[in-house]
Amino acid sequence: MSYITMENLLKAEFFNPSTAVKKTMMSTVISAILLNATNTQLTKPVNFTIKHIREFVSGNSLFCVYWKNTEWIVDGCSVLETNSNYTVCSCVHLSTFALIMQTSSSPPEDDQRMNLLNVVAVIVGLVFTSLALLTFAFCRWKPGVNNVPRINLCISLLSAHLLFLLTQQFLKHIKTHQVLCGVLSGFLHFLFLSCFVWMFIEAVLLYICVKNLLQISFGQRAVLSSRFLIVIGYGIVLVIVCISVGLVPGGYGSDKCWLKEEKGFIWSFLGPVCFILALNTILFISMIITLNSTLTKLNAEVSRIKQTRILVFKTLAQFVVLGCPWILSFFTKHSKMMEILFVILNSQQGTFIFLIHCVLNNEIRRQYVKWMRALFQNHPK
Ligand SMILES: *[C@@H]1O[C@H](CO)[C@@H](O)[C@H](O)[C@H]1NC(C)=O
Repeated sequence: MSYITMENLLKAEFFNPSTAVKKTMMSTVISAILLNATNTQLTKPVNFTIKHIREFVSGNSLFCVYWKNTEWIVDGCSVLETNSNYTVCSCVHLSTFALIMQTSSSPPEDDQRMNLLNVVAVIVGLVFTSLALLTFAFCRWKPGVNNVPRINLCISLLSAHLLFLLTQQFLKHIKTHQVLCGVLSGFLHFLFLSCFVWMFIEAVLLYICVKNLLQISFGQRAVLSSRFLIVIGYGIVLVIVCISVGLVPGGYGSDKCWLKEEKGFIWSFLGPVCFILALNTILFISMIITLNSTLTKLNAEVSRIKQTRILVFKTLAQFVVLGCPWILSFFTKHSKMMEILFVILNSQQGTFIFLIHCVLNNEIRRQYVKWMRALFQNHPK
């Protein structure tokens, strides 16, 4: 007896439920019984040939299983022979059977090493993000530098990576509470999107500043709009998250407590990200063109233009650093090298921001030296 579409209910996930590797149904669910038989003990194992319902991916393993109470188990069943279209199973009893393909998992040592690399990289990134945040908050910057986007970018990065690290470390415990897992993935969605929105706002402010380079003293503007900026920045992200929840209510809480990839829900993150990356690219190209033409036209105030130009290039570098990892993330499934590169680049975004805006800034470097001196004078040996 073959139960059509039953494989969608008695899913492959009911096989070895504790292991995280991917499992796929390779056959429909079938039952075999002997009518009018009083003796259920078989003298010989029963052999049956099962037709595959999807392509067998070589390198994976096949299991003949039978349904017992609440799960698929192997006990007493085995694969006799197999080719690309059929598999012969042998079982010592009659029951409800299926054929399951299990993706061969990477060796556990490999996973552990990857996890360690991830933890170390994220912690290093968090330390430098905090340093950058402290610098932005407490250093005296020239008037005209609007720190609000940068500070919020750092806050978003810091909370996003911290929450991500904690979620991944306690994944086993969190996954038992489906609601918590969904809520956490919602927060992660919000925080990672915030990073991009703040990066975009920073580029827009810079764009306005470049356009107004000769007319308006942009110091006043910056002070005026801080609170407004914060409402706008987080408001946009909140709207995106709300729309995502409204359109696909069950989209949060995948098996890694992130966005589910089914039904294209992942695009509620990747969509806005691609959109912002595209807009930013246009903004930067237009800024560089404007700056170059202004530089050639005018000799007055050249130093201020040059400073702005440096700022544009720094922000451009920051944009590349923040945008790249997510583009890489499209390829991580296919190669180990890409995965390692993604882990490193993604966790070091704060470090790059610290390098670009703090270490490579003469004034801030001077300020650091001053702080160091003050520190050592206050604590003599
Ligand atoms: C099923 O195949 C096995 C191995 O080839 C064999 O020993 C067994 O007798 C077969 N069962 C039947 C009922 O033919």
